[in-house]
Amino acid sequence: MNTEQLPQTAGPIGVFDSGYGGLTILSEIRRAMPEYDYIYLGDNARAPYGTRSFDIVYDFTLQAVTELFRRGCHLVILACNTASAKALRNIQQLDLPRLDPNRRVLGVIRPTVEVIGSVTRNGHIGIFATPGTVASGSYEIEIHKTNPEMKVTSHACPMWVPLVENREADKAGADYFVRQEVDALLKADPETDTIILGCTHYPILYPKIREAVPEGIEIVRQGDIVARSLKDYLRRHGEMDARLTRGGRAEYLTTECPERFAELATLFLGSEIKASRVQL
Ligand code: DGL
Repeated sequence: MNTEQLPQTAGPIGVFDSGYGGLTILSEIRRAMPEYDYIYLGDNARAPYGTRSFDIVYDFTLQAVTELFRRGCHLVILACNTASAKALRNIQQLDLPRLDPNRRVLGVIRPTVEVIGSVTRNGHIGIFATPGTVASGSYEIEIHKTNPEMKVTSHACPMWVPLVENREADKAGADYFVRQEVDALLKADPETDTIILGCTHYPILYPKIREAVPEGIEIVRQGDIVARSLKDYLRRHGEMDARLTRGGRAEYLTTECPERFAELATLFLGSEIKASRVQL
């Protein structure tokens, strides 16, 4: 594909995740910037990404980003830590110059790391993330760029995304898997005072995580942080802002059954939505 084939007129902001998790980011972005148009794409048919190899996550993410570009997006947010950790750099460096050097793809890890210094008191940071994000070492690398003295303990929670994707997040069985991972993280660093939910699916488990994590430990969710960072980005990049349409609309695409997606998405977003199926 080359630049000529991509629509050049203004378009919506694209928000991508492997499944439902990015809805936690989309809802905060829409709260902060309701005037823009959005297209959400969930690759539910192929979720979870968290246990997949680097190459596969990169391939799948690139397919999704290309589809969002084709549908008119000039700016795509990877509302997925796994994709941000494993595909963002390649897409920015290898694919954007070829697809269209004026389009942008942004991730969720950098904005999260930027605020962490103002949250922690003792510099002991815990990260809950997918096995893929943990294996990439992305949080450690990003945090240590600006705060080399911080102690970062990353802990993979392989069961949490399947619990969310299979609608078990609020069921009693989820308690066991949440407590197991919280205990393991705090055992690895008992001085942890701040925990980042480094997977966009995890805020859906927040009530159970909050219950299991001792009071006094801050739990950082990314939605509001990413929303503020995007708002700031658009304030600084007028040329991109001018290429975004404003109609307050949101369209939902999924690679799975749209009815099934809409049902659970409605629950997460608190308002009725309709979805369409997309093939990547
Ligand atoms: N929600 C994604 C993340 O933030 C990915 C979950 C998955 O598909 O494993 O990492």
